[in-house]
Amino acid sequence: MENAQLLKIANEFGSPLYVYDADKIESQYNRLTTAFKAVKKLKLNYAVKALSNISILKLFKNLGAGIDTVSIQEVQLGLAAGFEPEQIIYTPNGVSLDEIEKAAKLGVKINIDNLSILEQFGTKHPNTPVCIRINPHVMAGGNANISVGHIDSKFGISIHQIPHLLRIVENTKMSINGIHMHTGSDILDIDVFLYASEILFDTAKNFKNLEFIDFGSGFKVPYKSGDIETNIEELGEKLSSKFNAFCATYGKDLTLAFEPGKFLVSESGHFLTKVNAVKQTTSTVFAQVDSGFNHLIRPMFYGSHHEIDNISNPSGRERFYSVVGYICETDTFGNNRRITEINEGDILRFKNAGAYCFSMASNYNSRYRPAEVLWYNNKAHLIRKRETFDDIIHNQVEVDFSKKKEKASAV
Ligand SMILES: Cc1ncc(COP(=O)(O)O)c(C=O)c1O
Repeated sequence: MENAQLLKIANEFGSPLYVYDADKIESQYNRLTTAFKAVKKLKLNYAVKALSNISILKLFKNLGAGIDTVSIQEVQLGLAAGFEPEQIIYTPNGVSLDEIEKAAKLGVKINIDNLSILEQFGTKHPNTPVCIRINPHVMAGGNANISVGHIDSKFGISIHQIPHLLRIVENTKMSINGIHMHTGSDILDIDVFLYASEILFDTAKNFKNLEFIDFGSGFKVPYKSGDIETNIEELGEKLSSKFNAFCATYGKDLTLAFEPGKFLVSESGHFLTKVNAVKQTTSTVFAQVDSGFNHLIRPMFYGSHHEIDNISNPSGRERFYSVVGYICETDTFGNNRRITEINEGDILRFKNAGAYCFSMASNYNSRYRPAEVLWYNNKAHLIRKRETFDDIIHNQVEVDFSKKKEKASAV
């Protein structure tokens, strides 16, 4: 989006503000579907956790996507957005059997990643098909926090537990309709997907009633100019050919599924903040914005890089700044950033603000979470109102301290 458009939107809706570009979301969706055009049945299930605003979900529904959900509330959001239950896959981790049963009752596809839960679920509901999340034991992903397919990870059923898995399936007479993996986020090397696919195919051979194989997600997107990204086109060509060969030996055209979050929405997002103060110290110049890790936690949580530019003064002289927030904690968004000269009141834009940004926001310091705007059809649509004090207080229950304390009675 152009600076002028973003500034106009910031003027109209205030700051801090998340703005998402629907065209960018659509072009990423189309890029992925084109890369896998050689596969007969392809399903992209958008990972709701990345950005869960109901208007974003409806946009994906219009594009023909399904959704990947990880909580019963995300399932409910998907249903509220108009997805049919069979367009929703529910991939929880560490939730109760009770929650899985609730999701199954709603008719969504169930993905189980734990043998104990699988045995209990299969015993009680042998007629509900389930997908199995495999842990293929591969080390993948941008950093330890987002690597989830290795041997020490809590996610998935180990490939070494397949004999036990088969015993449970046979004993309960349950039916397995899918095999799934998700090994991490920010995976640059396509060989990770190709290597892990062999493990999934090997596992898949054990099940006769499969409908789909889900390769999860984890595609890396560029964060700054010149940054490298996962080569989606090469992955599409190579994985499609392996998948088609597997379907031929399996004797059925299965669906190839992915569940991308970051790839679809990261670059569509722009986070707009206003500079409250410019503070010169003995060691740096701080630009202090009207936000903090309550609104965008990725830099502090994962060390993620978000490019920051000054859209109020794009052609000013460049200087070095430390961009920080207004939270009573160290909340540094970026150190030693070369940014065009910043004055108080300027609007700074953070790039790659679509995935895991608003969805990880909180009310820490009792601050309001930002508003959200979708730029769609050449128009800015407010898709989440700015919070008010009522949002901070409305679930809080006050104790009446005016009453005299009663003496504790002897037991
Ligand atoms: C099970 C599962 N699927 C899909 C995703 C989406 O991954 P990404 O945003 O890297 O595409 C995640 C992210 O954590 C996940 O846990």
